[in-house]
Amino acid sequence: MFEGYADRWALVTGASSGIGAEFARQLAARGMHLVLVARREDRLKELAEELDTRHGTRCEVIVSDLSDPQASQRLFDEVSNRKIEVELLINNAGFGFVGTADDTQPQRMMEMIRLNIAALTELTYLFLPAMLERQHGGIINVASVAAFQPVAYMPVYSASKAFVLHFSEALWAECRDRNVIIQGLCPGTTETEFFDVAGVSGWLKKQRSHTAAYVVRKSIRGLDKGRQYVVPGFLNLVLSLSVRLARRKMVVLQSMRFFRPRPKDKSDDQKSAD
Ligand SMILES: NC(=O)c1ccc[n+]([C@@H]2O[C@H](COP(=O)([O-])OP(=O)(O)OC[C@H]3O[C@@H](n4cnc5c(N)ncnc54)[C@H](OP(=O)(O)O)[C@@H]3O)[C@@H](O)[C@H]2O)c1
Repeated sequence: MFEGYADRWALVTGASSGIGAEFARQLAARGMHLVLVARREDRLKELAEELDTRHGTRCEVIVSDLSDPQASQRLFDEVSNRKIEVELLINNAGFGFVGTADDTQPQRMMEMIRLNIAALTELTYLFLPAMLERQHGGIINVASVAAFQPVAYMPVYSASKAFVLHFSEALWAECRDRNVIIQGLCPGTTETEFFDVAGVSGWLKKQRSHTAAYVVRKSIRGLDKGRQYVVPGFLNLVLSLSVRLARRKMVVLQSMRFFRPRPKDKSDDQKSAD
């Protein structure tokens, strides 16, 4: 069970928008101080001001591009220099890309792997030893419902999230007896900037989605209970379980229906260019 939020420090990556910003808000409401990390400094400073006004939260803003291979170590060193003991690490920064293999840029996929997998792994192993030593702390690694199955037109993204979920669950088993909780958080579609960044603006409007506030509430409740993974939303949970019984071929072919680029989308692009 995770205990003791008040007056302790949480570090949130990807705090400049969406789920990360919401984690910062809800943890500040529980009395935590925050290290806010992302690339957009103006957004982070704005959030820090909001949290200070509302909750009197102490916030440290650290601007970092975590897809840079040196960035995780630099971030850890910076936090250590500021004499901050991180009680809760939220490895949330991540992005996706939706498109066909012909439209996929190899460099962008490598950037995704460096952010979604490499930085998350390195930050976990940098911050975890101190938590294990003092026998309290927690890490929430943001995966996705895409972690439960391969997703056509998002192959690198879904594979990266499968990594995050397996990695988190395995570490949960290793660390729970030492009072450190590791959680793999698996949201379904959530109202954030994610799909704009992934190249499918407007797609979210057609979907049933959750708010970031709902996703974060479920995650924090799961942390309180020491859960190794959390899937917010009953329907998402059912879907995540149903793929275990279905034939793998059927599962991956079904996934094509969601993100297959449609001719209509191209004309939408044309309209917005006009
Ligand atoms: N929204 C969904 O439907 C959904 C569903 C399942 C899982 N997720 C996962 O939830 C997490 C948060 O995404 P979101 O939905 O909140 O999307 P979002 O609104 O686009 O937020 C992504 C955050 O990641 C940060 N980020 C992106 N690239 C970065 C980099 N190179 N270095 C540092 N920070 C970086 C962004 O900040 P800057 O641009 O300022 O750097 C932003 O704060 C992601 O891991 C995503 O895969 C989202």
